[in-house]
Amino acid sequence: MSAAPAGGAPRRVILDCDPGIDDAFAIAFACGHPGIDLVGVTTVAGNVGLDRTTVNALSVLEFLGHPEVPVAAGSPAPLLRPFNDAREVHGESGLGGARLPAPRARAADLHAVDFLIGQISAAPGAVTLVATGPLTNIAMAVRCYPPLVRQVADFVIMGGSAARGNTTPAAEFNIWADPEAAAIVFGAGWQVTMVGLDVTLQALTSAAVEERMRGQGRLGGELLLPGLSEYRSAARPGQPVHDVCALALVAAPGLFGCEPARVEVETVGRWTSGMTVTDFGATDADCNAQVAMSVDVTGFWDLVLNAYDLAAAAMETG
Ligand code: RIB
Ligand code: CA
Repeated sequence: MSAAPAGGAPRRVILDCDPGIDDAFAIAFACGHPGIDLVGVTTVAGNVGLDRTTVNALSVLEFLGHPEVPVAAGSPAPLLRPFNDAREVHGESGLGGARLPAPRARAADLHAVDFLIGQISAAPGAVTLVATGPLTNIAMAVRCYPPLVRQVADFVIMGGSAARGNTTPAAEFNIWADPEAAAIVFGAGWQVTMVGLDVTLQALTSAAVEERMRGQGRLGGELLLPGLSEYRSAARPGQPVHDVCALALVAAPGLFGCEPARVEVETVGRWTSGMTVTDFGATDADCNAQVAMSVDVTGFWDLVLNAYDLAAAAMETG
């Protein structure tokens, strides 16, 4: 992770996502944390279909009081594979039990790939790109415009795992959903900061976390708690907020311990398709990733809940 902008200016972030309960929680974190300036959201098919992920992104941003953040819709399906969603985890709406008002705004008349290329090429070195869904849009963007990999300030994903999967024993959902796209992304020549299940399954919600959320006004009462109430994640005893971890690393990298590695994505294995094969013994020259392997869980939840306090307060005064 490169040094924070001079003078403590917020990091400009574009979030490519598939809302999704934890994607929505990540958007709320980005809107609340003073060190992040969310300058755009792009959507991809993943947890639910593209129409739904796009409406959810628009709804969440308006609910949070940020209708000014542009949303651009991207790919409705993986590069090669059939589309498989995760409605069994995120519910038919994609936001669990949260019932937000339909958005007034519409998505931009621009494909997500064109939005990503346009925003990043216009400000080389200024935009941190975070992806918390399948990597289809990102793969298309780096193939359409290879300089992208040098022009981002940083590239951070929620995805993959050095050890275990959650969709199959070997593969995490975002990589499993479009392994060909992930292989292109990891092979594009940039350093990928991989925030995978290795850390996201450490930072689970708890009764204390939910108690804090109960005191967070409409944010807690209409998004966070209803979202968690119908989140069918297999993790126990709490719920993983996978995507929030990626944004938290951007805001407070010191909370995470990352190790350099070579990550290759399996695309042909009968049992291992979508596996992020992680070699921590690779030479420095071969490393294409910084893999998050540890997290200060107490510090993480303090950071996240404090950002939610700010987001909730802004909603009351907005
Ligand atoms: O495996 C967890 C990831 O898949 C998260 O990004 C979740 O939102 C789903 O997209
Ligand atoms: Ca996601």
